[in-house]
Amino acid sequence: MQSNFNYKTMSNITFTMVKPEAVEAKNAGAILNRIENAGFRIVALKKVHLSASRAAEFYAVHKQKPFYQELIDYMSSGPIIAAILEKENAVSDFRKLIGATNPENAEPGTIRADFAESMAKNAVHGSDSDENAQIEADFHFSVDERF
Ligand code: CMP
Repeated sequence: MQSNFNYKTMSNITFTMVKPEAVEAKNAGAILNRIENAGFRIVALKKVHLSASRAAEFYAVHKQKPFYQELIDYMSSGPIIAAILEKENAVSDFRKLIGATNPENAEPGTIRADFAESMAKNAVHGSDSDENAQIEADFHFSVDERF
């Protein structure tokens, strides 16, 4: 199947997940609305329940961290909504939109300030670099799922 995804814009993508507690609380629609209102275009979108081994693979970079097992247990505890987002300066603009990892430090008006419960249950994930955005997008989406 041919995709109409524009590869010229690949450096301007980021990857996000609406995490289990935010999906469970029915905040996914409000969060996606904020993302679109901030100028991001949804390139790919899906709801998926990660297995523990898929979550472990996704977060393998944190393997040595003390919170790794908690993170894996949490991210595989219920469905998430995964998305690829496109915008100029996607990675840095998205990190501004979501706010600090710890919601106690997140700027007022950011997604984490308004929807996160805690450092672990922090509502959304956002890629931390262009390189990781590509890796994370490829982890979740095939080429024919991007438009
Ligand atoms: P995320 O942006 O998805 O990337 C890694 C995640 O690990 C992070 O969001 C937090 O949810 C989680 N995390 C980071 N630091 C801690 C911590 N000290 N305790 C628990 N979870 C953490």
